[in-house]
Amino acid sequence: MTESQSREDPKVQVEAASKAFEQEFERFARFTRGSAALQGLTLDDAEAVLRDLVALRTRHLGKKSVLATSKKAIGRIIPEDRATFGQLVQALEASIVNEIDQAEEALKTHVETARIERESIDVTLPGRRAHRGHLHPITLLRERIEDIFVALGYAIEDDREIETDFYNFDALNIPENHPARASQDTFYTTDGFALRSQTSTVQIHAMQRRGVPVRMIAPGRVFRRDTPDPTHNPMFFQVEGLCVDRGISMAHLKGTVAEFLRRMFGPGTVTRFRPSYFPFTEPSAEFDFSCFKCGGTGCRLCKNSGWIELGGSGMVHPNVLRAVGVNADEFSGFAFGFGIDRMCALMYELDDIRLLFENDVRFLEQFD
Ligand code: DAH
Repeated sequence: MTESQSREDPKVQVEAASKAFEQEFERFARFTRGSAALQGLTLDDAEAVLRDLVALRTRHLGKKSVLATSKKAIGRIIPEDRATFGQLVQALEASIVNEIDQAEEALKTHVETARIERESIDVTLPGRRAHRGHLHPITLLRERIEDIFVALGYAIEDDREIETDFYNFDALNIPENHPARASQDTFYTTDGFALRSQTSTVQIHAMQRRGVPVRMIAPGRVFRRDTPDPTHNPMFFQVEGLCVDRGISMAHLKGTVAEFLRRMFGPGTVTRFRPSYFPFTEPSAEFDFSCFKCGGTGCRLCKNSGWIELGGSGMVHPNVLRAVGVNADEFSGFAFGFGIDRMCALMYELDDIRLLFENDVRFLEQFD
């Protein structure tokens, strides 16, 4: 038999096809022999092998495969050999299909498992912690102040920030021509309402609402037409205090403020009152307390004076009591007010009060 004859011999061709398949299939064969070969095979690799296997199937079983040609040739084989040849071709086809199917089945299962694994969530991994916020330093301080006064028997009042002239000025005995009423000091709405320039307005609301006797503090926001600088901001916080009852005297005022400051800054804190003037109190006094940093000997914080100026106070003016229908002959009271942000800036030695209002988290985070 010449070489060209043997190449054309259908039987030889089938045998060659069988050999070619076995050779190519070698790298896939291990997948048909259990799961060991699959172990450690990544999802990407397994998918690539699977694609190669599909190509292999087309090559060896597809329309253009040697096997397909051989099948067509069956009819042309001489009748005596036809059955044997047919069986040979069928046997080869069955064996190729079987081997590819097995490998494909194993790979597909592996790919499926790997996919599920990749998409599953490892519940044992530590989670991403949610960032927990914290209160603003002014709020923290306000709450400390509130706690002290609540312990002293005071109620907490919260009231409106937009006021009529009656609450902001008239009822507080602030005369018609007082400079504080001028629009260069107070913000007005176009309807003529004032953004309250002090929390003293709450004295009036509280007495109207609760009547007397009354003991209350009112922390809150106030507004003034100040140009912002390291010690001023057009919006800031105050606490107002009011105590009205029968027989209230200046001694009660001094005792209350002194006790508050001792609880705030320590038992050794000394309080001092200086005569002053406020339209809504008579007599009036400003109060200072001994510097909490140097204890009164003088330091940079208290500008070497030993004292820190805090707020205003006095005996409620009879006109204020009358404005809310309280009998000024029967009742008397004291009131005081001071700035929370100023106190906050002192306590944390901030050199710029505006830091408290800029909401820069790098600053605020330090108070966590
Ligand atoms: N309202 C005053 C201010 O804003 C502070 C003040 C002074 C409040 C004396 C008072 C007081 O109740 O009696 O400067």
